[in-house]
Amino acid sequence: MIQVLPLAAFVLAKEHPAAQVPLEPSTALTAEPLTLDNIPLLGYGTWNLKGDNVSEAVSWAIQAGYRHIDCAAAYGNEDKVGRGIADGLAQTGLSREDLWVTSKLWNDHHGLNAPESAIDTTLQKLGVGYLDLYHMHWPVTQSSLGSRSVEYRDTWAAMGLLLEKGKTRHIGVSNFDPEQLKDLLNHTSHPPSVHQMEMHPYLQQNEWLGLHQKHGIHVTAYSPLAGSNPTYDPGNPVQLLNNTVITKIASKRGCTPAQVALAWGMARGTSVIPKSQNKERILENFGSLKCELKKKDLAKIDALGKAHHRYNNPAKAWKVDLYVGLEDSKGKHELHE
Ligand SMILES: NC(=O)c1ccc[n+]([C@@H]2O[C@H](COP(=O)([O-])OP(=O)(O)OC[C@H]3O[C@@H](n4cnc5c(N)ncnc54)[C@H](OP(=O)(O)O)[C@@H]3O)[C@@H](O)[C@H]2O)c1
Ligand SMILES: *[C@@H]1O[C@H](CO)[C@@H](O)[C@H](O)[C@H]1NC(C)=O
Ligand SMILES: *[C@@H]1O[C@H](CO)[C@@H](O)[C@H](O)[C@H]1NC(C)=O
Ligand SMILES: *[C@@H]1O[C@H](CO)[C@@H](O)[C@H](O)[C@H]1NC(C)=O
Repeated sequence: MIQVLPLAAFVLAKEHPAAQVPLEPSTALTAEPLTLDNIPLLGYGTWNLKGDNVSEAVSWAIQAGYRHIDCAAAYGNEDKVGRGIADGLAQTGLSREDLWVTSKLWNDHHGLNAPESAIDTTLQKLGVGYLDLYHMHWPVTQSSLGSRSVEYRDTWAAMGLLLEKGKTRHIGVSNFDPEQLKDLLNHTSHPPSVHQMEMHPYLQQNEWLGLHQKHGIHVTAYSPLAGSNPTYDPGNPVQLLNNTVITKIASKRGCTPAQVALAWGMARGTSVIPKSQNKERILENFGSLKCELKKKDLAKIDALGKAHHRYNNPAKAWKVDLYVGLEDSKGKHELHE
């Protein structure tokens, strides 16, 4: 695997001589790429990064210490994110292999043939020779919205070939439900390395998380600050970061509420990928690595899980059932403070 990576980078550079990012795809790796055993548990989310300073924000995140960047074709900003990655590496003197870079295949590139062109575009925009992780963003095919199709099986097979070609070091899924995950496992010899899903103290999904741990599938928690993302319908009387359980623990431990939420996620073994475009909050969230919670704090946060709420659910818009059997299926959130 390691030997094919430089080749992939080289091929990519030749195919795209006009790659806009001045990050040289190295012909020899200068360090061992990160592995799943040392995936940085704290990552930086890039959905909704927009406007003039997207690249600055990504570069700043790398300078602040983040070594894991979560991207997606669907976020429409991979070119700017890529420039930020190049700048962050230049500013810190780090190399590509010091970072864990994730991206995701959008619903319009499912099937046996399309995934390779999708990853090629992403690699070019991000200005990297390989990804550390490539997710199938949803178990949903754009062309068959309205039906629960199993085209994800073909898509997954195609993603397996991207691994063999060295274009990504791991492949993963996102937003699968239990039936879809089990079906995929029944139809592949290559289980996903990572499952990225919504997860936070208001959506803990202990049993579902446990199933992944049993199968050795790492879980990445998205929207780890719960309803803070303004594109979400708050749907919830008390924002997580204003919940007194969280704010009390924060002041006791000398942390901020966001740091408490992120530290809780990492304490469960999941990686967390908070997004912020704000310099101070980028630093604040990185500081969650220093936020030490006691067992009794974790237990208090666990108790918040009784009131579960899912913020990200395009099922209605796409007219397709999602998250069947998972928490939220009743769509109700009752707050137990
Ligand atoms: N696989 C998927 O389908 C999927 C779905 C959703 C998200 N994701 C990934 O997960 C990442 C994170 O999720 P998310 O962006 O939905 O939500 P999030 O990271 O939980 O919250 C982001 C929001 O919280 C604000 N914020 C950040 N830090 C804060 C702090 N310390 N205190 C108060 N507010 C803070 C941000 O505003 P400012 O920017 O102004 O600071 C932003 O509005 C995404 O960026 C994306 O990479 C993946
Ligand atoms: C981006 O611009 C916004 C608005 O001017 C500012 O609040 C934020 O701190 C900037 N972020 C970075 C990383 O420069
Ligand atoms: C997966 O295969 C097992 C064993 O054949 C079977 O019992 C199970 O129903 C299958 N699950 C799905 C979701 O297809
Ligand atoms: C948290 O509460 C304060 C005051 O109680 C309020 O001003 C603020 O808007 C709240 N923030 C959120 C995210 O709900």
